[in-house]
Amino acid sequence: MFSQTHHPTSDPLTFKSSLWKSQGDIPIIDIRSKSTSTGSDGFDVAIRQAVTIGLAQPYNEKELPILLLYDETGLRLFEEITYQPDYYITQLEFDILTKYAADITESIPDGALFVELGAGALRKTALILDALEAQRKSITYLALDLDKSELSRTLGELRGRYTHVRCGGLWGTFDNGREWLATIPDCPRVLLSLGCSVGNMGRNEAANLIRSFGNILKPQDRFLLTIDTKHHDMEVIRRAYDDRGGVTRRFALNALEGLNKLFGHNVIDTSAFTYKPYYNEVKGRNEAYFQCLRSITICLPDSAPIMVCEGEVIQFACSYKYNDLERQLLQSAARAYLEKEWLAEGGTYALMMLSWPGAN
Ligand SMILES: C[S@@+](CC[C@H](N)C(=O)[O-])C[C@H]1O[C@@H](n2cnc3c(N)ncnc32)[C@H](O)[C@@H]1O
Repeated sequence: MFSQTHHPTSDPLTFKSSLWKSQGDIPIIDIRSKSTSTGSDGFDVAIRQAVTIGLAQPYNEKELPILLLYDETGLRLFEEITYQPDYYITQLEFDILTKYAADITESIPDGALFVELGAGALRKTALILDALEAQRKSITYLALDLDKSELSRTLGELRGRYTHVRCGGLWGTFDNGREWLATIPDCPRVLLSLGCSVGNMGRNEAANLIRSFGNILKPQDRFLLTIDTKHHDMEVIRRAYDDRGGVTRRFALNALEGLNKLFGHNVIDTSAFTYKPYYNEVKGRNEAYFQCLRSITICLPDSAPIMVCEGEVIQFACSYKYNDLERQLLQSAARAYLEKEWLAEGGTYALMMLSWPGAN
């Protein structure tokens, strides 16, 4: 575990210290690489390409990228989902963090750089930051996410709350975050992923993402992530992705509106679709679809018209659940060591702390 008495020789972000001009400042660093396919313009180009490829697939095999969900409106709607009683995931995370925040943060050393991947709203994160503040540790917390205005809004809610914890944002993708982290001078690093975001990736993709961050971490660094388990009643899972307040439905359908914004004009008649979630017990995942209510044609630039038939489904998201063995397999595929795991009551939810002891 970490040494509790780590004394950083210099500020982990010495070269960026000027970003925090005065107390209460919340800088947001634009880490979207200008030269790669995930750069500011490249990001939209990459999503447009993914849309074009996904919609060119045969009947009932069409897909849309999950990233369409997370524009400014989508992020606000996702926050609203976290307040829905049917969305049990948030409550279980709150339970774990309320009970164990002091224990979870005990091993985070003074002087650490604490980066949250896909931070979203920061209600749950605040429980961790509160614990670090109570331990009087000098921590630099950076929330990474895709939308700058949402980063400003959510981080703004933490303004003035901490003396020891310094807050800021990283505007970009996970890939941008990894590239950026690799350039940061030597300091203890802790990564955080809440809201079972890794569960939104395929099992191999999730392991690859975790491992890719492990590749740039040192033995003392940690990766904290939450994962949903399979210890739930089927009906409870179904409700979580189709809440009675109808917020998940609005969140999903906003992604279709996002498609029109992405291409700059109406490429799709959004009124021809409804949201259709389905829990696939065999694959242990919730599958989210748009179902077409009447046959339509989608016209994307530089591509032949695409016909979507009445009744046809377009998949746009999955939420994987992990039993004990699957969590071990995930950790092993990520070549990680499990430092500790905290479980919600009845093993219904897990927070894993991973490390890479063999790293350089
Ligand atoms: C399931 S939400 C979780 C939000 C928040 N952590 C929570 O627990 O409520 C996933 C978050 O990850 C962000 N996200 C998804 N894919 C991303 C990517 N490739 N790069 C950066 N952020 C991403 C989304 O914008 C969103 O805020």
